[in-house]
Amino acid sequence: MRQEKIKVAVPASVSNVGPGFDILGFAVDITSDIITINFNEQNKIVIKKISGDNGKLTYEPEKNTCTVGILKMLDCLGIKIGLDVIIQKRIGIGSGLGSSAASAVGGVFALNELLGKPFKKNELLPFALEGEKIASRATHADNVAPCLFGGFILIRGYNPIDIVYLTYPKNLYCTIVHPQIEIETAESRKLLGEKVELKKAITQWGNVAGLIAGLTTNNYELIGRSIKDVIVEPIRGKFIPSYYDMKEAAYSVGVLGCNISGSGPALFALSDSKIIAENAGKAMKKICDKIKVNNKIYVSKINTNGPQII
Ligand code: HSE
Repeated sequence: MRQEKIKVAVPASVSNVGPGFDILGFAVDITSDIITINFNEQNKIVIKKISGDNGKLTYEPEKNTCTVGILKMLDCLGIKIGLDVIIQKRIGIGSGLGSSAASAVGGVFALNELLGKPFKKNELLPFALEGEKIASRATHADNVAPCLFGGFILIRGYNPIDIVYLTYPKNLYCTIVHPQIEIETAESRKLLGEKVELKKAITQWGNVAGLIAGLTTNNYELIGRSIKDVIVEPIRGKFIPSYYDMKEAAYSVGVLGCNISGSGPALFALSDSKIIAENAGKAMKKICDKIKVNNKIYVSKINTNGPQII
């Protein structure tokens, strides 16, 4: 029987993970966007409703992150159908938690299900990336890929895209602090410049390699030592109120590593126990409260599922 309607929950994600700008990310179970699509009789894509965005997102299908991927997918299949789309934003826009990636992934995942899975899951990635590109004006998969596949992902290369699923220790907990301010990824990327000093690049790729080695050999200490970013954090850290104080507070209770989630303002910290992860949340919250910035705190293991039909 033909499915008439699909509703999916799509997870938030942490990208960059310290040294891995544009190449590392993992999905988390803290909140999700909800995307619903059903066939309509109008022979076109109609965004029926967007909620949770404070009126910020467009209803034009050619410009909305969620529907751009859908349009690309229909184009590729060479079919013209009508769809109603409902977008419930629950991952904060401009939060650094993969909000646009979740909507982009949700759209193409839901459509694929509605059409009876003409594509394998990994074939959905290029369509979702087209959606993400609309939001951040750049092609980066470090939110989209973990959001679609779940788990901890390395994007080894972009030309062609080469996804590597990383193994990681069982007891890895992630604390997330989301100060309730917005940082637009596209703007934040503009500040980064084009060139990197060789000395810094050497430090950075040493840390990327160390982080991956630590993850895949269950070496918590090495994971912690490697969550360092000498290229992007010095530029972006300045735009997050009390960022370095929050980071210090997290380390003071014993986290392995702490850094900016995506382009911020959210921070993530990785710990080897739930207690430490919870304490880190409390410690970082204290700093945020002190400067009177509203915030949300989460503790999660790594999400292994990606989008789920609900
Ligand atoms: N890697 C991207 C960035 C993720 O840091 O700009 C943001 O969504």
